Amino acid sequence: MERKKYYITTPIYYPSGNWHIGHCYTTVICDALARFHKMLGEDVFFLTGTDEHGQKVEKEAKSRGITPLQFIDPLVAQLKEMWNLLDVGYDRFIRTTDEDHVKCVQKIYEKLYESGDIYKSEYSGWYCTPCESMWTEAQLKDGKCPDCGRAVNLQKEESYFFRLSKYAPRILKLYEDNPEFLQPKSRVNEMVNNFLKPGLQDLCVSRTTVKWGVQLPFDPNHYAYVWIDALSNYISALGYLSGDDALFRKYWEADLHMVGKEIVRFHAIIWPAILMALGLPVPKQIYGHGWLLIGGEKLSKSKQDAVKCELTDPYELVKRYGTDAVRYFLLREIPFGSDGEYTNEKLLNRINADLANDFGNLVSRTAAMIGQYFGGELPAPAARDGLDCELIAVAEGAFEKVRAAMEKLNAPDALAEIFALVSRANKYIDETTPWLLAKDETKRERLGTVLYNLAECVRIAAILLKPFLTKAPALILKSFGCDEGAGFDALAFGGLKAGAKIEKLPPVFPRIDVKKELAEVDAFVRAMKREKPQEAKAEEPKKMEITIDDFAKVELKVGEVIACERVEKSDKLLHETVKIGEEVRSVVSGIAKYYTPEEMVGKKVVVVTNLKPVKLRGVLSEGMILCAEDENGNLSLVSPEKPLASGGAVR
Ligand code: ME8
Ligand code: MG
Repeated sequence: MERKKYYITTPIYYPSGNWHIGHCYTTVICDALARFHKMLGEDVFFLTGTDEHGQKVEKEAKSRGITPLQFIDPLVAQLKEMWNLLDVGYDRFIRTTDEDHVKCVQKIYEKLYESGDIYKSEYSGWYCTPCESMWTEAQLKDGKCPDCGRAVNLQKEESYFFRLSKYAPRILKLYEDNPEFLQPKSRVNEMVNNFLKPGLQDLCVSRTTVKWGVQLPFDPNHYAYVWIDALSNYISALGYLSGDDALFRKYWEADLHMVGKEIVRFHAIIWPAILMALGLPVPKQIYGHGWLLIGGEKLSKSKQDAVKCELTDPYELVKRYGTDAVRYFLLREIPFGSDGEYTNEKLLNRINADLANDFGNLVSRTAAMIGQYFGGELPAPAARDGLDCELIAVAEGAFEKVRAAMEKLNAPDALAEIFALVSRANKYIDETTPWLLAKDETKRERLGTVLYNLAECVRIAAILLKPFLTKAPALILKSFGCDEGAGFDALAFGGLKAGAKIEKLPPVFPRIDVKKELAEVDAFVRAMKREKPQEAKAEEPKKMEITIDDFAKVELKVGEVIACERVEKSDKLLHETVKIGEEVRSVVSGIAKYYTPEEMVGKKVVVVTNLKPVKLRGVLSEGMILCAEDENGNLSLVSPEKPLASGGAVR
């Protein structure tokens, strides 16, 4: 009989480094799902990778004076090391710079161009570089990116467009006909109300300014929009449109695209439209999970250093608490589909309460009592009483409950079911009081039954935990004398053979002194924060120092822009007429991407007035207007904070 296939994907990660525990969330959930389906006997393909093209990488590499790949390669290695530490067992790690992927994206563009779903036109819009997403004026929130709140910049160019608008009715129908397609349900409302109902616009899918990307085969001046490039990974990874598409034929459509909620829009609208245009089936399901928060805000690359002293570095967390503990926290703590606050205290309390106390204690007490009372040899069970039957029913019923939860992708609920068995077994110890039975020779048979039942619960819980925890279950199974490779077919109660050697094992999850550990972690994080800026400074070439007299050589004055126009044939330059006291000057500045001529008029600015005049594109420039620049290259005029007459000196 042919095995059921299961194709599961994570998003492909931006190689921006600075990986934090929030990044691990999507992929660890996917790994647990992949492992679970493998244990169900299914033929699983689990895909993850990196999303390497685009303006952000291009800029970062340029600012460091290296090539994009020189910038990316070490970050990809770091990411792979992170997945390795967390025992993420993917079947392919795709990079959008992989040759087969690039070829596939080109073929996709070609196909859509030929079918007329991609056409040439002119585009203008507001671009958020960190998010790599384009917004219309109406979509902006207070003039900023509605997703991340950062500044956007105006971009205008000749571009290719994808007929997204054409697919809106089919996408709405897809949601209606397949309530499972997009989960949780709340995301459907978001998509319908925020995007589909207001009406989809055709999507600009090429760039000429960003050259770090996939070149379009039918117009080499144009490069693929990063989101089309990125989304295509889900099929390029399987060999779609390549000489060998066996994997594609076997695994597509995807059973699940697991993604963070902020990128549902791309996956639930753009991606199905592209697939429809290619004549391909859409994925069975897209799940938009919630975020790990710190102080109520999404834990993110840019914010993580500014926030409280929480330890968010996955490498350090795994080093301190182990792979299982970090995986367990991620899979158990946050109600599935919602956001959840991350703190070190929560992590430590989870480890202590569930892993050290509940599960760890059950394992060690059971092994210790079999050691103490039966010399480490598993006793044979005798007749069952009511308590035994109750316990066994919980043990035997656990799998179906875990399966039902995992069908809904709900790892926290699945783990709660396994831990209900663990708690029931701990309660059984209190109820049966083996230490009292051991004192009475006539109760020896009863003692043997009780310990056998406990050992069985340990075994069953360990097997059930295997998709979630990758280290302890195998260790425990081994020390309980069973096959560490045991799967779901070995879940029937009574699998352990009497006489099996039960080895005492060191505590699998040592209890952590929370207060002490929190103090240590706090000190560690503070030390790291202090170190970082110093490191960064050391790398920078030493800046030349100037004296106050040197500074005084620069003449700065307040000016008022009284007229402004674009410089012909330049998309960067504006030509301002600036009134400085009684004087009027002509100034050219490279701010056309950030300010329109209309916006400039009436602005009070700071002008360098003793610069040697130059001609820029044939226009005289007798000074320089000062701007501040952020890390993304966005410019903002520097202006006097209080209304000041023009001509005033700036010192
Ligand atoms: O979005 N909590 O990549 P990415 C939970 N390249 N999940 C978080 C998180 C947090 N605080 N921070 C990040 C991209 N993530 C695109 C995807 S797919 C065709 C292209 C998750 O590196 C985030 O939700 O920004 C996403 O699922 C994953 O990390 C990668 O995010
Ligand atoms: Mg992101």
